[in-house]
Amino acid sequence: MASPNVVRLRRVAPWWSVPSQGAIVIDGGRRLAGTLAIAGAKNAALPLMIASILSERPLVLRNLPRILDVAVLANILEGIGVSVEWDERGDTLTGRFCGRRLGSGAIDGVLVTRMRASFLVAGAMLARLGRVALPLPGGDAIGLRPVDFHLAGFRAMGATVSLDAGGVTIAAPRGLRGARIVLPSPSVGATENLMLAATLARGETAIVNAAREPEVGDLARCLVAMGAQIDGVGTDVLRITGVAALDAANHVVLADRIELGTFMCAAAITDGDLTLTGADPALLAAAGPAFAAAGIAATGTGDGVRVRRASGGLRGIDVVTQPFPGFATDLQAQAMALLCRAEGAGVITETLFESRFRHVPELQRMGANIRVVGRNAMIRGVPALHGTAVEAGDVRAGAALAIAGFSAAGTTTIAGVEHFDRGYDRFVERLARCGAAIRRVAG
Ligand code: UD1
Repeated sequence: MASPNVVRLRRVAPWWSVPSQGAIVIDGGRRLAGTLAIAGAKNAALPLMIASILSERPLVLRNLPRILDVAVLANILEGIGVSVEWDERGDTLTGRFCGRRLGSGAIDGVLVTRMRASFLVAGAMLARLGRVALPLPGGDAIGLRPVDFHLAGFRAMGATVSLDAGGVTIAAPRGLRGARIVLPSPSVGATENLMLAATLARGETAIVNAAREPEVGDLARCLVAMGAQIDGVGTDVLRITGVAALDAANHVVLADRIELGTFMCAAAITDGDLTLTGADPALLAAAGPAFAAAGIAATGTGDGVRVRRASGGLRGIDVVTQPFPGFATDLQAQAMALLCRAEGAGVITETLFESRFRHVPELQRMGANIRVVGRNAMIRGVPALHGTAVEAGDVRAGAALAIAGFSAAGTTTIAGVEHFDRGYDRFVERLARCGAAIRRVAG
């Protein structure tokens, strides 16, 4: 395979030196209007970067989002010997990751516990080196989020797994072997971790009840470009035939469907007019018709979607979060913010995570009428929200509070700015360019 055409890669990444402290301040009541290019998907970028561990040759990823999670993962990768170089031009961030000098060494435990997705280094390192030791993952405080499916899959592929106070050690000194693995539920992370591991295993691995999220497909397409053999991409049965080594590749990171949905809610709640480019609205799957029913008018533009509020206004809808192609749990909080200002009532049922309603008390402080019973939240729209001091508990909760803040009377101050930095590429700057009165304050 031809070497990727990389020019002018250098070590720059000013976006990760931004101190993630302080708050976001929004003066509500402004319409959002203009054009925004949707960034590369966080949930695609992270596993794609980890795929570089599998090869001795460079992996070049274009359209990476400038987010803290990308920067933290780059630090973790550098710590284990993956070389990382960046090229920033205009709005485009390209990363070049090369695992030639991969060592078994020091996985930064502090960084790993900050980000759950970093647990995917386990599958890739195990495949390449036959052994990996790392702490159990952290991440957003949105539920227990165990990794038992990942570990059971590694065991089925012939690895031994030992847990101790420091974390987990997974070893397959004679290499991994293909296996039939049936996931108890279609976990995104387990599907990705096992797919990464299976690319270099002996024989065929079948992952049954695999996650079908578009980001899983994006990882599979990149691995295929690196020389992996994977069938069934986009379906719930992935068949991976191991190969001896993976090659260099170039890949463009898929657009972020969650950012797309977030900005759609922001446009509709402000009665704005946003054109969102570079993302296929079909990626929204069930969220597309749900948003339409809630009064978000979206018209395809060829390269994206133009979003306004429907002439009938916003209406309450019922939403149940489900694995793809169901309504994404990562859009649940933003949809709830929208429903706070809709006509009538709606119910949101969260089926994926057991404690993902941390935005509810914050929205209530802004005047929202929400009642939570177990995994169900009933939202009755109110004529107005009012700005106040609130706190973002996770990435999507932060986005929901910003959406509410855009429509609220007065000033909303959102603490927990690091959550915006983790998941959204320059949230403040890009929305300010579309007319939002939004700024970042220190301390
Ligand atoms: C990924 C996304 C996250 C999204 C989630 C669900 C990334 C980096 N993150 O997270 O933004 O909210 O998918 O769409 O892609 N589970 C187990 N055992 C396991 C693995 C998962 O019980 O071994 C459970 C989890 O606790 C959770 C559910 O399965 O209740 C879904 O988790 P999973 O699909 O694995 O989510 P993540 O990959 O962590």
